[in-house]
Amino acid sequence: MRRKLIAGNWKMNKDIFEAGTLIEELKTRLKDFRNEVDIVICPPFTSLVVAKSLIKGSPIKLGAQNVSPQDDGAFTGEVSVKMVKAIGCEYVILGHSERRQFFKETDELINAKLKKVLAAGLTPIVCIGETLEEREHGITDKVITTQVKGVLHELVSSEVEKLVIAYEPVWAIGTGKNATPEQANEVHRLIRKLVGQIYSWNIAEKLIIQYGGSMNAQNAGSLLSQSDIDGGLIGGASLKADAFVTIIQAGAEASK
Ligand code: PGA
Repeated sequence: MRRKLIAGNWKMNKDIFEAGTLIEELKTRLKDFRNEVDIVICPPFTSLVVAKSLIKGSPIKLGAQNVSPQDDGAFTGEVSVKMVKAIGCEYVILGHSERRQFFKETDELINAKLKKVLAAGLTPIVCIGETLEEREHGITDKVITTQVKGVLHELVSSEVEKLVIAYEPVWAIGTGKNATPEQANEVHRLIRKLVGQIYSWNIAEKLIIQYGGSMNAQNAGSLLSQSDIDGGLIGGASLKADAFVTIIQAGAEASK
C-alpha cells in the first residue's frame, strides 16, 4: 500500500517569526500522531533554517518550494539544490502552476531541475495540472499527457521510482473550488497509467500522486479516500495549524 504524503506549500507566506509560531502550534497538535502518514512543510527559503531546527524530534520533514537548475555561479537571486540540501530539506516542489504562470517555467526547465534534485538524492514533488480553459475545451487528458512526458523526459526507472507527482488543476488552486474526488481520481489514474506505459506497472503502482487545489479540513477525507489519491499538496489550509492537522488526521484515517 502506498503511504500518504501530506505536504504544506506555504508559498510566499510566513517570515521567520511567524514560521516559528506555526511550527510550534503544529508540534503541539501532533503530540499523539502515530506516524501513519508522511508530513512535510515547505516554507519560503528564508524560513528553512529556523524551520529545520524547530522540527527536530517531530514527525515533520522539510521541503523547499523551488530550486535553480544550475549548480552554482552567477545567477543572482537563485538558490541551488546543494544549498537546500545542506539545510536539511528532503523534498523540493517543482513546476508549481504559479511558477509556470508567473515565472514562465516550461516542462523542459522543470525537467532540468528535476534531474538536479534527483541527482542530489532529494525527493521532487512535481506539479502538473490543466487550466480551466483546457478543462472546458475537453483537453485535460491531452494536457496531462504532454506534461507527464515533458517533465519525465529522459528519466530512467530508478529515478522515476523516487519522485512524487502532484496533480493540481490550476482552476482549483486558491479558488476554494476543489476538484470533486471523482474528477481528481480520474486524472490520478490517467497519470498512473501513463507512468505504467512509459516505465512499468510496478513503478506506476508505487508512485505517490498527491492532489492539490483547495484541499481543506472539510474535503480532505473524501479526496484522500479515493483509490489513487496518495496525499495532498496544501496551500492556504497549511497556514493554519488546526486545518493542516485535520488534513493529516484525514490522511491517517484514509490509510487504515
Ligand atoms: P491551495 O494551494 O490549497 O491554496 O489551493 C494548493 C497549491 O497551490 O499547492
